Amino acid sequence: MSRWNAHLYDVSLKYISDYGKELVALLNPKKDELIVDLGCGTGSITNEIAVSGAKLIGVDSSPSMIQRAKEKFPKIEFIEANATDFQISQKADAVFSNAALHWIVAEQQEIAIQNIRDNLKVGGRLVAEVGGKGNIQKIISSIDETVSAAGFDKVSFEDVFYFPSIGEYATLLEKNGYKVEMCHLFDRPTAILNGINGFKDWVSVFGISFFQNVPSDKQSEIIDKAIKLMMNKLEKDDRYFADYVRLRVIARKI
Ligand code: BEZ
Repeated sequence: MSRWNAHLYDVSLKYISDYGKELVALLNPKKDELIVDLGCGTGSITNEIAVSGAKLIGVDSSPSMIQRAKEKFPKIEFIEANATDFQISQKADAVFSNAALHWIVAEQQEIAIQNIRDNLKVGGRLVAEVGGKGNIQKIISSIDETVSAAGFDKVSFEDVFYFPSIGEYATLLEKNGYKVEMCHLFDRPTAILNGINGFKDWVSVFGISFFQNVPSDKQSEIIDKAIKLMMNKLEKDDRYFADYVRLRVIARKI
């Protein structure tokens, strides 16, 4: 993501870190614990967890997010790395991850789950929220319908995201050395503020790869059409709610 997108993430898409606060309550961080915030973005939640007195390490694959996180929170350690290959020198008490692990495609998920396990102490916990099965279906279908109607190849969402069911994710964790203590799938309609501009921000940060088969001179026209369609599908009482589905999990390394 570009530096501008790191800015959007902090301002227009701030609800991501706001919703993350619910997951921090599930993490229940304790003083002196070592906790990894995996997919930390610009570090707002990392900093919030650190208030508990735990030692935090923020990990994100985006150089601009890590740069911004270091500027905002110079006392916290931040590392640029992927979920599939990050390494810390001591084993962690917990790995926390909010709305990040769904960016790893299905074929790489097991590698990520194994790498997280290898960075945890025995008994250490993974507390994570990802997009669950059915997540943003109306957003994706709006983009697919618009791109196809314009005569271009749509990009399959499985080439971008992994939105697992409870059965898939719990099975993956159990197969890879975790005891699953909680796994919960639920709808969480998420308000997109600022009308069309909020949707433009969403698409520019999260959805731009779905337009990769559209020539650049046509992109803004097709994006605008897709946004109009998704706004029609997501409108309720003059407000707009993205059709987010969450999968929350607590799993311990055994
Ligand atoms: C999510 O948090 O579910 C999500 C956010 C952006 C793109 C896709 C999914």
